[in-house]
Amino acid sequence: MPEAPVLQTIDLCKSFGMVKAADAINVAIRPGELVGIVGANGSGKTTFLNIITGYLKPDRGRVLLLGEDRTGLPPRVITKLGISRSFQIPQLYTNLSVLESLLLSVAAEAGRGTGFWQPLHRRHWIDQGLETLDRFGLKPYADRAVSELPEGGRKLLDIALSFALRPKLLLMDEPTSGVSIEDKFQVMDILMKVVEETRLTTIFVEHDMDVVQRYGRRVLAFNDGKVIADGTPGAVLADPEVRKAVLGRA
Ligand SMILES: Nc1ncnc2c1ncn2[C@@H]1O[C@H](COP(=O)(O)OP(=O)(O)OP(=O)(O)O)[C@@H](O)[C@H]1O
Ligand SMILES: [Mg+2]
Repeated sequence: MPEAPVLQTIDLCKSFGMVKAADAINVAIRPGELVGIVGANGSGKTTFLNIITGYLKPDRGRVLLLGEDRTGLPPRVITKLGISRSFQIPQLYTNLSVLESLLLSVAAEAGRGTGFWQPLHRRHWIDQGLETLDRFGLKPYADRAVSELPEGGRKLLDIALSFALRPKLLLMDEPTSGVSIEDKFQVMDILMKVVEETRLTTIFVEHDMDVVQRYGRRVLAFNDGKVIADGTPGAVLADPEVRKAVLGRA
């Protein structure tokens, strides 16, 4: 039997007043897939991630995670199931050092709740934290305050925190937003290397078509809460409807 999709949505709908932010979304993501989501501002990309991760309840439809119906469960339960997410704006404790931030995530993964400072004294957790930082190119910053990181570094750290939870599905909302054009590809190179080396099932939302074209293996295009195209980057980005809706040109 083929493996169950890591994520399957069935007829997902969510409206805010008159705005249909999710309009009958049917998507299945198989293990190991690397999927980019494109769409204009307000097309429903973040709403889709919010519904999957329990930040929003759908008006209708279902979310299956690893083959089980998990619709409407709260975010902390979804995280425990192995669905990890980074946000459009990184949510970091800027006063902590980069390594301390990471260790908090490692401690959370180990189920240490309130005793979270304990791992600071546990060599193997520190080593694990440093290994993760190294994967994300952040080891040289380990002892620096998070506030000292450049924007690209903050984005990488935010995603490293999600990664430290050893997720089965990683969701990234605009991993390069706010990062300078020169640094974008460097950030994506690091992220995609981690994803491919660990064969992590990943969905990333991205505005920049060049980034999607280069890194997506499969692309979903959103418009008005609907998936209007689903396929290889080449096919989706050449689709006239996508070009009109996403790029505003034919
Ligand atoms: N909590 C909310 N309350 C009211 N309206 C909302 C809410 N969240 C999203 N919306 C609306 O739903 C639509 C989809 O928003 P969403 O944030 O999903 O878009 P997006 O594709 O992520 O856009 P962006 O590229 O700007 O991040 C928009 O019209 C937005 O204004
Ligand atoms: Mg968004």
